[in-house]
Amino acid sequence: MTNSCKVHSPATIANLVCGFDILGMALHEPFDIMELVLLDEPKIIIRNKDNFNLPTDPEKNVAGVVLLSIMERMGNRIGFELEMEKHIKPGSGIGSSAASAAGAAVAANHLLGNIFSDHELVQFAMNGEKLASGVKHADNISPCILGGISLIRSIHPLDIVSITVPDLFVTVIHPQIEIKTSYARQILRQQVSLKDAIRQWGNIAGLVAGLLQNDPDLIGRSMEDVIIEPVRSILIPGFDELKIKTKEAGALGGGISGSGPSIFMLSKEKQTAIGVESVMKEVYDKIGIDYRTYVTTINKKGVEVIA
Ligand code: HSE
Repeated sequence: MTNSCKVHSPATIANLVCGFDILGMALHEPFDIMELVLLDEPKIIIRNKDNFNLPTDPEKNVAGVVLLSIMERMGNRIGFELEMEKHIKPGSGIGSSAASAAGAAVAANHLLGNIFSDHELVQFAMNGEKLASGVKHADNISPCILGGISLIRSIHPLDIVSITVPDLFVTVIHPQIEIKTSYARQILRQQVSLKDAIRQWGNIAGLVAGLLQNDPDLIGRSMEDVIIEPVRSILIPGFDELKIKTKEAGALGGGISGSGPSIFMLSKEKQTAIGVESVMKEVYDKIGIDYRTYVTTINKKGVEVIA
């Protein structure tokens, strides 16, 4: 058994617009790099190799709480030393906390001889999401660990369905403002009208059918959210304009990535996805907010042990 490993833990897009807390997909870019060492005593040491100044106290660190839960399951006979090089900015809406949590869980499992199932890894990693957002949700964690697109049919008990991945291109813009997931959840309405629920159910079913049938147009038109987006989009400058203009540029559809502020759009062709990126940049240059963009594809592997 090796006692150290390195993993790449990918960004993820939760919700896929209409599927709040139940749908998510993994991306090829960006990804975090994590190095984990197995220790023969029960302690967790965390070191940051980036400039995000995340807490190194394991109880307050997303990856730390995941490692603590694994250490406890192992009867406190082992410990871990973690070096984090995050490239997914916290508060970006592209699964920064999930990448830390899932990466830690997969790396630890690798060092322990892969004794835990994927479902168990999702359970461990959800402890990290609980710390980050106050609620256990698996729509980033599951695709981050399993790769591709996940449907979380239920959390209690955990019931995850992997969905066929279409050959689509993903353009993401990450405006450099921070929206805390916990805040973006607090502001949501707690009641939903039957009319809105029916519309949302239609869209979720349409999206899943579109993915299974590899029907890009059905995927695109099902990416409509009448419940969450109207509330959260207010926090994202230029959201409506960006969505309209990127669709005019040929994007199939898209919307807020996770709890925002990142926005993603899907395209059939790479050239279209690059054109969509230009339109996104124009919108944000005009607003005058710094941003990062990515043109990428759906990552079918999830967290990868690279050394
Ligand atoms: N489903 C979660 C939310 C994802 O939208 O609050 C957070 O990244």
